[in-house]
Amino acid sequence: MGNLLIINARIITPQGSTARCGEEMKQLLDLLNGYIEITDGIITAVGTGKPAKKKGYELLDAQGKVVLPGFVDSHTHLVFGGYRPDEFVWRMNGDSYMNIMARGGGIYNTVRATREATFDELKIKAEWYIDAMSRMGVTTVEGKSGYGLDQDTELKQLEVMQAINQDPLRKVDIATTYLGAHAVASEYGGNAKDYIDFMIAKMLPLIAERGLAENCDVFCEKGVFSVVESRRLLEAARELGFGIKLHADEIVTLGGAELAAELKARSADHLLHASDAGIEAMAKAGVVATLLPLTAFTLREPYARGRYMIDKGCAVALATDLNPGSCCSGSIPLLFATACLYMHMSVEEAITAITLNGAAAIGKADKIGSIEVGKQADLVVLDTDTPNVLPYYTGMNSVWHTIKRGKVLHQA
Ligand code: NIG
Ligand code: FE
Repeated sequence: MGNLLIINARIITPQGSTARCGEEMKQLLDLLNGYIEITDGIITAVGTGKPAKKKGYELLDAQGKVVLPGFVDSHTHLVFGGYRPDEFVWRMNGDSYMNIMARGGGIYNTVRATREATFDELKIKAEWYIDAMSRMGVTTVEGKSGYGLDQDTELKQLEVMQAINQDPLRKVDIATTYLGAHAVASEYGGNAKDYIDFMIAKMLPLIAERGLAENCDVFCEKGVFSVVESRRLLEAARELGFGIKLHADEIVTLGGAELAAELKARSADHLLHASDAGIEAMAKAGVVATLLPLTAFTLREPYARGRYMIDKGCAVALATDLNPGSCCSGSIPLLFATACLYMHMSVEEAITAITLNGAAAIGKADKIGSIEVGKQADLVVLDTDTPNVLPYYTGMNSVWHTIKRGKVLHQA
């Protein structure tokens, strides 16, 4: 199990065990006629030409194909109850995302549905998305809570992800994130301070003790959690050993990017309205800028300044933001197209952004995100000899095989 020899492949990968910044993002290893030896799900050799014959290894001939590291979707909200197609249509007709939320819809709409949903309903739904994303080459996904806000439902969401992670046949690994600070729970009548007190006193210690989440995230946004409130929560989370992430400067310029730099967060995400100073501070502090162009696309907002961020030396990651509201899409092909066409990233930069830099955004760049000896053998094989199809097949899948821990999952 998990012993595989891939031969005759064009191998394309970023290299290293930390995020690639600025200029480095376009520097990929590109091996023609390459091989990858995988032993027990771990990469044990990479080279060109003919590898030594080995007993007990399955052989995969990748003649005419491109092999990349498995895609790491480092920002999703994939465990949720219900759907919100009506809100999508309201926005089509001019309503705004934040106004819908202020009326008790938006995130609150999904909170009600997620509180009502059973554990099994949530799990089956999340697995449906995982299967679809795995077919598009995703081998690791980050998943957030944040649709319960109360203790039981937040734990229920995190336990769904834990259950999926405990399945030995799982198609993806989930990096888990506590996002209790997604909105102020309605029980607190708009009192963000008291709700943060509850998260700090009760939820963070409980989740840490049970090992249910690796990261803590906050929706730092005008009308949701201020910079001061976000800082207080995230500092408490960091004390308990959580990795720190922020939804930052998504709707207005609030200083979320600056806060991420100050706290040396793993990532700040969205950043549609991040200031020049915030971007420079993030580059300096080595905070990954996780860009989510499918959300900008769906909300008809201006795209984040991906080109500018890379030129300023940032490490940019790309993720889908799959969720029932602002972006009900986990489409990797459309992610490549929007990143390359509208954020002016090169194909090489986009590949680094959704592999090694995505891994760094969830604190796993030492284990996944590149094709190198010692890393987990999570790979994607494209049914083509050029990576340029990634943005070119607009919204269409070019994946031939997804390989998880050396096991071939999908054969297109
Ligand atoms: O990343 N902005 C906050 N959170 C999500 C959307 C959540 C929702 O609309 O349900 C986001 O866009
Ligand atoms: Fe999000």
